[in-house]
Amino acid sequence: MKKVITYGTFDLLHQGHINLLRRAKALGDWLIVGVTTDNFDLERGKMNTCGNVMERIEAVKATGLVDQVIIEEYKGQKIDDIRKYGVDIFAIGSDWTGYFDYLKEFCEVVYLPRTEGISSTQLRQERPTVRIGVIGTGSIASRFVPEAAFVNSNAIVAAYNPDPQAAQAYCTRFGIPTVAHSPEELYAACDAVYIASPHYTHYEYARQALMAEKHVLCEIPFVFNVREAEELFDLADRKGLVLMPAHKTAWCPAYGHLFTLLKSGVIGEIAEVNASVTTLTDEHSEKLDSQRLGGSMNENGCFPLLPILQLLGTGYRNINFYSKMKNDVDMYTKAVFRFDHAVASFQVGLGVKTEGNMVISGTKGYVYVPAPWWKTDYFEVRYEDQNKNKKYFYPFAGEGLRYEIKEFVSCVLEGRTLQSKLTRKEILTMTRVQEQYLQGENVYKI
Ligand code: CTP
Repeated sequence: MKKVITYGTFDLLHQGHINLLRRAKALGDWLIVGVTTDNFDLERGKMNTCGNVMERIEAVKATGLVDQVIIEEYKGQKIDDIRKYGVDIFAIGSDWTGYFDYLKEFCEVVYLPRTEGISSTQLRQERPTVRIGVIGTGSIASRFVPEAAFVNSNAIVAAYNPDPQAAQAYCTRFGIPTVAHSPEELYAACDAVYIASPHYTHYEYARQALMAEKHVLCEIPFVFNVREAEELFDLADRKGLVLMPAHKTAWCPAYGHLFTLLKSGVIGEIAEVNASVTTLTDEHSEKLDSQRLGGSMNENGCFPLLPILQLLGTGYRNINFYSKMKNDVDMYTKAVFRFDHAVASFQVGLGVKTEGNMVISGTKGYVYVPAPWWKTDYFEVRYEDQNKNKKYFYPFAGEGLRYEIKEFVSCVLEGRTLQSKLTRKEILTMTRVQEQYLQGENVYKI
C-alpha cells in the first residue's frame, strides 16, 4: 500500500485545499494529513488563524478525501512521521517548491500545483474590519498601532487627544486618517475604541464610548473602584458590547502555558506566589502625581495581581500593604496576602528598583520566571532533584500587545462579550484591591 502524507493549517477550508488533498490522494492508496496545532502556528508566526485545531481537523475530515488525520506540533516532526507511518510520498503545494527537499532522504517528495487566486490569508482579509479609534496618544498608544498591524481585520481610523497638536502628530506619524477634535468626532468614525489616556480618565471615556455604542479595549489599570467597574460591565452587557481591560500579560503565550501547567499540578499545591514590577520613573512624571491617581500601587499593581488572583483564586482573607512614601505617593509598595491555604506577595515601585521576576512555590517544586516576567517568553520548572528541571520557551513577538488585540478583534467580530483568559470576577477583584489601597485599608506608610 502506497502511503502519502501532507501537512497544512487548513484554516477556513477552501477549494485550494480540496484540490490539493484530491491530488495528494491520487498519488497513492492511503492519505495522511497533518494539521498544525494552534500553538505550533503561533510559534511559526501565524497568529491570525480563525479556526482552532479541532475545527480545522473536522473540516479536513469532512472533505471525505482523507484516510488518517494527525496533528503537527513541532518543527522536525515530518521526519518522525515519515518514519513512524512508513510514508512513501510527501506531497505539498508548489508554493513550497524546494523547501522540503531535505525530506528526499526519507521518502519521495512531490510538489503539487497550487490553486491560483485563493488562500486562507485572502479569506481572512475579506472578513469585516473593526475600525478602531484611539483615545490618548502617549507611549503605549504608540506601541499599539504597529502591533495592531499584525492582527487581521482591524484598522486604526482615528485618534483623539485633548491636545490637538499631540493628536495631529500621532496621526501623521502612523498614517491615521482622522484627527478627532472631540471624543464624539472619534466615536462617529469608529466601531471600537482603545483607551490609552491617563488612567484617572478611563472611567469617563469608557462610559461615553459604551453609551455611543462602541466596543471598548481599555488600558490597565482599568478603573479604581468596583462600583464603576460593575457599572461599565452592566452597560456593556445591556448594549451587547465588548468591554475588555487590556491586560496584555493575560494573553501572552508563555503566561497562558504557565497558568495551565500550574493548574495541572506540575509543582503540586501552590503555597506562595511572589512577583515584582518596578520601573524607575522621573519624580516629576505624571505617574507620580498624587492628584492624578499616581504612585506605584496604582500604576503597576494590576500586573502582579493577575497571577496571584488567577493562581490562588479571588477569595483572599486579607492584604497588608507597606508603602515607602514621598510627596504623598508610594514610591514603592509591598503587599502581603493571606489566603486560606497559601500566601502571596508582590513588590511594585516607581522610585525603587528591584529584580522583576516571579517565583511560584509549590509542595513538589517551584517555577521561576525571569524579569520581566509579565512579558516573558521563557520560564523554568525546578525540583529538588535538579535532573527533573525543565525549561519552557514560547513565542513573544514584538511588544506583545498583538495577542490581546487579536482577542479583542475576535470578540467584536464573533459577538463574544466574555473573554476566555481573564474573568470579570478577576478584574473586579483586582479593582477591589486597588480601591482598598486607595482607601488606606491596611496600608502602613513608611
Ligand atoms: N494550497 C493549495 N492552493 C491554495 C492554497 C493552499 O494548493 N490556493 C495548499 C498548500 O500549498 C498546502 C496546503 O494547501 O500544501 C495547506 O496550506 P495552508 O497553508 O493551510 O493554506 P493557505 O490557504 O496557503 O493558508 P495561508 O494563507 O494561511 O498561508
